[in-house]
Formats: sequence, structure tokens, C-alpha cells
Amino acid sequence: MPDTDVSPIIQLNKVSKTFVSHDVEIEALRNIDLRIDQGEYLTINGPSGCGKSTLLSIIGLLDAPTSGQCFINEVDTQRLDENQQAELRNLHIGFVFQSFNLIDEVSVFDNVALPLTYREDGLSKKVIHDKVTDALSQVGMDHRKAHKPNQLSGGQQQRVAIARAVAGDPSILLVDEPTGNLDSKNGSAVMDILATLNEKGTTICMVTHDPRYASHAKRQVSLLDGRIVDNLTSFDSSYESPLVSEIANQ
Ligand SMILES: Nc1ncnc2c1ncn2[C@@H]1O[C@H](COP(=O)(O)OP(=O)(O)O)[C@@H](O)[C@H]1O
Ligand SMILES: [Mg+2]
Repeated sequence: MPDTDVSPIIQLNKVSKTFVSHDVEIEALRNIDLRIDQGEYLTINGPSGCGKSTLLSIIGLLDAPTSGQCFINEVDTQRLDENQQAELRNLHIGFVFQSFNLIDEVSVFDNVALPLTYREDGLSKKVIHDKVTDALSQVGMDHRKAHKPNQLSGGQQQRVAIARAVAGDPSILLVDEPTGNLDSKNGSAVMDILATLNEKGTTICMVTHDPRYASHAKRQVSLLDGRIVDNLTSFDSSYESPLVSEIANQ
């Protein structure tokens, strides 16, 4: 159960999202109620097409709900104009995607620096340099800062993408299937980095298919056909880590 003394960093109230494609309506999310507290680490799982990425896009202000409310730090984000939403996103939210989404034409350093240069608060070159260097060292990629992304392995590119997401010290990190394109060794390295970030206070909301990684989180939300069908914390008596059941079934 959420701690009533802690205010939610994210709160969704009856959020629905309908896409219209070729005159067909697709209800990607239906009446989602979800509260995420500061410092939580939760995963979202469920079959392909059940609405996981749509949910992250709405939490991260990349897309708007068709109905319902989304609060970030108790601010009703629907009431903000586009510029205010962009500012909130740049200051408080970091994204990590399965496909890394790095720019191949510029160096690792510049990839991480780029979002910082867009910020409204006008960071100085020195501050940007320090933040980029710090973020790259956190993921063990400082020694590759002059490389281009396509000179790196998939695991290294994902670490750079994490550095880019966290360089601005976001309070919320939204992560969409980060290990989908990685082998298990690199996948584990990425998960260790995320666990360390969470220990330092970053709230993490991660979409994952992989039960091994889902069990890293303290809470697991399961979606099916755009609805939440399970919302379990590791403290629930009903909770059984997928890893534990996997081992038990062997
Ligand atoms: N931009 C879009 N236009 C039309 N349909 C979309 C769009 N984005 C997602 N969908 C549909 O919404 C549903 C949920 O998609 P998504 O959130 O990407 O699922 P997941 O990430 O769980 O695989 C799917 O049926 C998908 O085809
Ligand atoms: Mg998806």
C-alpha cells in the first residue's frame, strides 16, 4: 500500500486513450488509476499491444490522454500549455527506449549534452560539461565520450542513452523495454545501473517483458487490453516473484 505521508509523484485518474486509425477506434488505455510515489521502482508488464508504451507516453507528456487526469508533482498536466509541458518534461522526466535513439552523427558526449542545451534555465557550458561527465561516469562510459554511437556495442549504446536520460537529474525515469535489444550480460549491467539510480532516489517506471527483470522492482503493474489487471507490491502476501516461481517450477 502507498505510504499516506508521501505525496504521489505521479497520479493518473481514470485515464483512457483512444487512437483512431483508418476509421477504426483502438482503446489503448481504459480507465487507468495509478499512483506512483516518490522513489518507487515499478515495472509495467503485459502482452504486446496491451498499452504499456502508451501509458509511458502519457506519464511522460509525450502524448495526451483522451480522457482522465494525469498529475505530476500534484500539477494537473492537462492544464499546462505545450511550452509548460515541455519545460516540466525537460526538467523532471528522463526517457530510455529499447532502440536507444541516439544520434549517430554526433559524439557520445554531445548526445548526452543535447537535452541539457534545450533547458529553459540556461545552463552554462561548464555546468553542462560537468553534468555530462558525471552522467557518463555513472554508467561507466566516460572513456568513450569522443566515440560516435555506431562505434559502440548495443549494451554501451544503452548505457549512453541512460546517461542522456539522467544527466539533467530527472526525478522520474521512464524506461521502455531497455533490455529488448541486449544479451543477458548487457541486460543485467543496464538493470544494475537502474537499481543504483533508484537507490539514489530516482523514481523509476519501467516496461519490461522479462520476468527476471520485473522482479527487480518493488511493485509490478500488469496490463491487459488497456486495463490494469494486477498491481502487486513485493510486500503483498499474494506476491510471488516470477523468478521464485520459475525456480520452484523447475
Ligand atoms: N499512434 C498510434 N496510432 C494508432 N494506434 C496506436 C498508436 N500507438 C499505439 N496504438 C495502438 O494502441 C495499442 C497499444 O499500443 P502500445 O501502447 O504500443 O502497446 P505495448 O507497448 O503494450 O506493446 C495497440 O493496439 C497499438 O496498435
Ligand atoms: Mg511498447
